[in-house]
Amino acid sequence: MPFPEKFLWGTATSAYQIEGATREDGRGPSNWDLFAAQPGNILDGDTADIAADHYHRFEEDLDLMARLGVSAYRFSLSWTRLHPDGCGPLNPKGAAFYDRLVDGLLARGIQPLVTINHMEIPQALEARGGWLERDTIARFTEYAMDAHRLLSDRVTCWATMNEVAVTTWWGHATRMFPPALGDQRLVLPAIHHQLVAHGRAVHEMRRAQPMGEFGMVGSYWPTRPSREGEAHQQAAETLDLLFNRSCLDVLVDGAYPSELLAWHAEIGGQPFIEPGDLEAISAPLDYFGLNYYAPLHVCHDPAGPGGAVVPEGIGIAQEDPAEAPRTAFDWVIDADAMLPILREFRDRYRLPLLITENGGAFDDIIADDGRVHDSARIDYLRRHLAVIEQALAEGIDIRGYLAWSLLDNFEWAAGYSKRFGLTYIDYATQQRLPKESFHWYADVVRRNALDT
Ligand code: FCB
Repeated sequence: MPFPEKFLWGTATSAYQIEGATREDGRGPSNWDLFAAQPGNILDGDTADIAADHYHRFEEDLDLMARLGVSAYRFSLSWTRLHPDGCGPLNPKGAAFYDRLVDGLLARGIQPLVTINHMEIPQALEARGGWLERDTIARFTEYAMDAHRLLSDRVTCWATMNEVAVTTWWGHATRMFPPALGDQRLVLPAIHHQLVAHGRAVHEMRRAQPMGEFGMVGSYWPTRPSREGEAHQQAAETLDLLFNRSCLDVLVDGAYPSELLAWHAEIGGQPFIEPGDLEAISAPLDYFGLNYYAPLHVCHDPAGPGGAVVPEGIGIAQEDPAEAPRTAFDWVIDADAMLPILREFRDRYRLPLLITENGGAFDDIIADDGRVHDSARIDYLRRHLAVIEQALAEGIDIRGYLAWSLLDNFEWAAGYSKRFGLTYIDYATQQRLPKESFHWYADVVRRNALDT
């Protein structure tokens, strides 16, 4: 069955994970630069200083996308390339880079889908309290509007931020991401300030570009009890509340779930909502950008060891079934677990969807024949696209699919150890080598249909 005629096919990346050139052309330090420079934070001491060197090689990467035949590309802007110190005016050299990137996409018939901030913050703002500080709301809105003024003559589809909930959990409740604060009581205030900043930015951008499409990107990890019993069922529901619904529900309802506020109060969190905030957060959205990777199987465990994805310290242990197929990241492969989420966006959240990320890390190697035979990735993508096909047949409004990722890249705390790309990067030479999955995906895009 073919996909809808106007279905967007593409790939996704983020600035920090591919650009490199962290000290060039006036880019300011981001919180991740400092975090990565501290020994012990990133596997093997990797940093994103060079990454996939996309800043210098973007023309080649645009050509790769043209070869894929995709109609869309989701990428993010680097806040510190545009506002090096966390405030205006725009850094002209940073602006020139994104001008060239967008022009290059349009010249190849590829629609730019811009994420304004993907999991970073200028270190200048982090040093002043980052997302725990209300002033950062105004700094983000100013940055979003400068970015919007720069590109809105050519870009119509915008997302303010990527994965606010998960990023904040890992950075504020644990020390896996910056600012590495390790204090759960800070999670909800930091999420809240990002959501207010999102809402204000959407409001301002929409005023300036009434025909634009504005959304937010979040990941959704379906949670399931790994054992029978009330306490384990409760653990799965708690994780769902903390991880998935802490952003989504308030964006749509204009109110946080009462259980979430009760949890915050119980752990000794301070009040954080000011008049006007909830109205700002629930500014209408044109779509939601869904990142889907895996379900999480969890049980109640007072020691709260967490797991590969689940943060420690919340009385929960991640306990995925031993026999379940997994990616190299140890994430369970379960495409069917995506379907209930897609239905939920139709029935509960009533938002059109863009699948803004989906993909798998696998231990790719260049074989003796000079190719990367990543059949496991092809299988992963095929299974998930089959579920999307089914969802479309059920009338769920899914506008497009962006495979994560165009290139192997800097996978945050896992450094370069995890490869998600359709294109293999030899980090010693920066040579790009399309994997088998690249060719497979190009065929899917050309046919506008799966091959099963
Ligand atoms: C998502 C992030 C993205 C990438 C993938 C693997 O959580 O949005 O930057 O790291 O996971």
